[in-house]
Amino acid sequence: MKFFIDTASLDQIKEAKDLGILDGVTTNPSLMAKEGISGLDNIYKHYQAICKIVDGDVSAEVISTDFEGIMKEGKMLADLAENIVVKVPMIRDGIKAISRFTEIGIRTNCTLVFSAGQAILAAKAGATYLSPFIGRVDDITWDGVGLIREIAEIYAIQGYDTEILAASIRNAKHIVDSALAGADVVTCPLSSILGLLKHPLTDIGLANFLADHQKANEKAMATK
Ligand code: G3P
Repeated sequence: MKFFIDTASLDQIKEAKDLGILDGVTTNPSLMAKEGISGLDNIYKHYQAICKIVDGDVSAEVISTDFEGIMKEGKMLADLAENIVVKVPMIRDGIKAISRFTEIGIRTNCTLVFSAGQAILAAKAGATYLSPFIGRVDDITWDGVGLIREIAEIYAIQGYDTEILAASIRNAKHIVDSALAGADVVTCPLSSILGLLKHPLTDIGLANFLADHQKANEKAMATK
């Protein structure tokens, strides 16, 4: 399973890269706004800065919601760097644009996916990635990880190539459950990735190893 970081923060992207586990980046208009980035020029420059840090795929989202606008914007985004993947919302004109992008060799990430039906449509249109938002599904007391499992089963039965990118990850358990449910990629905040490190027995075990080492050294020094 690939690990993408879901942020527009250059510092967080660098930190995740430094860990040696980063396969790519996803962004969205809310995450760009959170970093205070506005205006098309600045937004495009920021995408190029992200693409310079990361070797893997970087999802850049269109703002337009009509076919012509999505196509124009998507082509401009795809021209920014080789590793840009154009993120397109799951709407009628979005599906039409994904289908056209696929024909002309532009890779896409179909976003705002909340059902298996939407997942089938995106795969039929040839989306490179599919982003089901599991945290937001959980928020309405449905089963986000169950949705990943359902889509993974359908894609396996039908032989679809679209990669399932579990998004709206809120904690480390979402990452583990997505891996088990058959996600190809998870995209998460750095905090959720770091959450995978934590186990109280690791902390206790390490403290004991270091204390034993210290005691043995003190004893050796005392007998010199
Ligand atoms: O990748 C989609 C993600 O950014 C949405 O996450 O936490 O806003 O539901 P969230």
